[in-house]
Amino acid sequence: MIRVGVAGAAGRMGQTVCEAVEAADDMVLAGRADPALGVELAEILGDVDVVVDFTRPDTALDNARACVRAGVHAVVGTSGWDPSALGGEDGGGKVFYAPNFAIGAVLMMQFAVAAARHMPKAEIIELHHDRKLDAPSGTAARTAELMGGDVPIHSVRLPGLVAHQEVILGGVGQTLTIRHDSTDRTSFMPGVLLAIRKVGGLTESPVVGLEHLL
Ligand SMILES: NC(=O)c1ccc[n+]([C@@H]2O[C@H](COP(=O)([O-])OP(=O)(O)OC[C@H]3O[C@@H](n4cnc5c(N)ncnc54)[C@H](O)[C@@H]3O)[C@@H](O)[C@H]2O)c1
Repeated sequence: MIRVGVAGAAGRMGQTVCEAVEAADDMVLAGRADPALGVELAEILGDVDVVVDFTRPDTALDNARACVRAGVHAVVGTSGWDPSALGGEDGGGKVFYAPNFAIGAVLMMQFAVAAARHMPKAEIIELHHDRKLDAPSGTAARTAELMGGDVPIHSVRLPGLVAHQEVILGGVGQTLTIRHDSTDRTSFMPGVLLAIRKVGGLTESPVVGLEHLL
């Protein structure tokens, strides 16, 4: 059984992760950390093998470092932080970060990269709920990075949205639109559970992107 702790356990994503871990028969939910629950991450590190972090852009790096130093693996979903700032921490914990854990979003990024080879002019519109703290989204930034070149990103924040993205490519007399919609946070859970199972076997760290685990 993999002992899993959740950082941000009282949040929208954290609650969904807790339910998914409790429903998985090879995992046990061994800790919930969140200021809203009065529990610090440091208090649960001794009880877990893997921490799943869905917190805030300004805490994800410190949380990942604390996990690595404690010999605990970290699966990070929080966006808006820089995983390349990791390095040099002792302890043996591995870090995996995915800006998007939904398989459809991974496919959207791969299709966009393939399309950009033939239609180099493109722009991204990403649309999220209005409580999201960072803009542009980690998914949009990663898509633009993978597509290469100059890909402008437009961010929409409105109530009623969950997580959505359109990549629009323009050519002579034609456009191509590739769109992904997460209409429910359960869309991210198969990817999160896969990462929990695989993070301990990574041969390098940090690893960024769900495509590396598929
Ligand atoms: N990678 C993905 O697939 C994916 C999908 C959805 C959301 N996200 C990202 O996940 C993050 C969380 O989103 P959300 O909608 O659940 O936010 P949220 O505000 O609902 O939840 C964040 C929770 O983290 C807690 N928190 C803050 N600091 C903490 C700390 N130091 N230790 C532990 N907990 C702490 C807060 O109290 C809150 O309960 C955001 O960065 C969002 O962009 C990623």
